[in-house]
Formats: sequence, structure tokens, C-alpha cells
Amino acid sequence: MQQALYHPEHGYYSSGRCEIGRRGDYFTNMSVGPLFGKLLAAQFAEMWERLGKIDKFVIVEQGAHHGEFARDMLESARKLWPGFFTALRYRIVESFPVLRDRQLQTLAEFADKIEWRTSIDTLEPFTGVHFSNELLDAMPVHLICSRGHVARAPTAVPQPDWLEKFVALNGNDFVFVDQPVADPKLRDRLQNLPQRLGGYQTEVNLAALDWIDKCRRARRGVPFTSQRLHRSTSFPHRNYFRMAGGAATPLVRVDGIKPSSSYCRCGS
Ligand SMILES: C[S@@+](CC[C@H](N)C(=O)[O-])C[C@H]1O[C@@H](n2cnc3c(N)ncnc32)[C@H](O)[C@@H]1O
Repeated sequence: MQQALYHPEHGYYSSGRCEIGRRGDYFTNMSVGPLFGKLLAAQFAEMWERLGKIDKFVIVEQGAHHGEFARDMLESARKLWPGFFTALRYRIVESFPVLRDRQLQTLAEFADKIEWRTSIDTLEPFTGVHFSNELLDAMPVHLICSRGHVARAPTAVPQPDWLEKFVALNGNDFVFVDQPVADPKLRDRLQNLPQRLGGYQTEVNLAALDWIDKCRRARRGVPFTSQRLHRSTSFPHRNYFRMAGGAATPLVRVDGIKPSSSYCRCGS
């Protein structure tokens, strides 16, 4: 999944092939016009006021795509809250050069307000907002599958309850193979999951947990991430795992249609 998303040449995001909006692969809040940017400009201006109208209020955005949200928000702040606009500094964390070039074009008129960072690790502590829209579900996940409850002799070595679904080659075809979990971080995480019936599948987003951890470096910052949630991911932890069925929530679509194989046109 990591390769399909981030391979420098073929990755869906890293190659710049991902198109959002009316002629793209899907819609987000920015696709329908500048309203979302306007609404959040009002929200951010209020946060700035509550922080005592500080001289330097930093907004960090991650997953800024072509810079549309930053443009809509900055235009609105300049017009409606000039004091806030003066105090405002914008930081875009962008590791893909092709997207950074698109953002530079979209945001040319705000060049003196914006700085880029290639990674969240190089971001200095700041006071303000750490913003993202539709970022967490763009990150690669680990697919896991329950072995189910296996009756064992009391002396048998206990088996872990979960296997990981890896991708392997079968001739010229990619296939899933269930293997013991190799990543120690994932193994730790799985200890918190309840036992499920054999064959139950779900996913673990370690990248999102890592990201949340790094966001804590904001000194007086407010994390602000918006995300449309799939019906099944809107449940609290205990109810989510109680649900019957248990098919992992990542969906594969090609031109909006479910393909016969998950590996059809990887990275497109
Ligand atoms: C679903 S798009 C959302 C774009 C935009 N925020 C919007 O709402 O229209 C996900 C964005 O996150 C970026 N992205 C994906 N994985 C990322 C990661 N691990 N770190 C930072 N950005 C990532 C992609 O390049 C893409 O621009």
C-alpha cells in the first residue's frame, strides 16, 4: 500500500496523478468552492482572539494537495479579519516536490506568508493550529485477519490471535498471503484488540498514530483535522469490534467502480 501511494514514480500521491474534484477521482470539501476555507478562516480568527491576539499565529497544513484550502482561507482572512491576517503565518508540510510546485503556483500571491517544510520532523514548535482535511485515511494501513479461537492443549505454546495480510507474487499476479505479524509496533497494538471469530478482517493505521504523536510538538497549538468517516469507522472502539462480518474498510475503486481484483491498476 505504501508503494502504491508513495513510490516516487508510480505512487498515486507522489507522482502528482491524484486529481480531486469534478473531473477527478473524488470530491473533498474544497471541491465545491471556497466556503470551507471561509468557514475555517472564521474559526481560526476566533482561536487567535482567544489566544490574546498574539503577534505570530501559525497555521500548519499537511496534505495541502494543490493549495486550494490555503488560498481560500487566506483570501477570506485578508478580506474579513485584517488584524488576524497580519498575525498569520502559514506552514505547509509537503514531502512531494510535484505537489509543492502546484502549491507554489496556487499560492503565488501569498508568497510572503508561507513557508514549506518537507517533513513534520523539521517543524519548529509553534502556537496556532495544526490543520488537515482528509489526511488520515490517505495513509497506508496494515490489513490484519483473526485466526479465531483455536482449541489448544493446555501445554501448547500460545499462538498470537492475529495474522497480517501481506502481498505476494503468484506467477504474474499479486495475491494476499496471511503471515505472522513481523512489525513489533503492530504486534504491540494488536494486544489491545478483542478476540474475533476466525477470518475477521480489519486494519490498523500505525502511520496515523505516529502522526498524532508528532503533532503533540505544537506548544500551544490546536490540532484540527477533519475527516469524512465511513459508517463503520464512526463507532466507538468497543462497538466497532463487536460488529458482525468484519471486512477491512479500505475500498478499491477504479473509475468509481469496484474492480475484480484489488491490484487492478495499482497507484492509478
Ligand atoms: C485525500 S487527499 C486530500 C487533499 C486535501 N486536503 C483536500 O481535502 O482536498 C490526501 C492528501 O494527503 C496527502 N498525503 C497522503 N499521505 C500523506 C502523508 N503520509 N503525509 C502527508 N501528506 C500525505 C496527499 O498528497 C494528498 O494531497
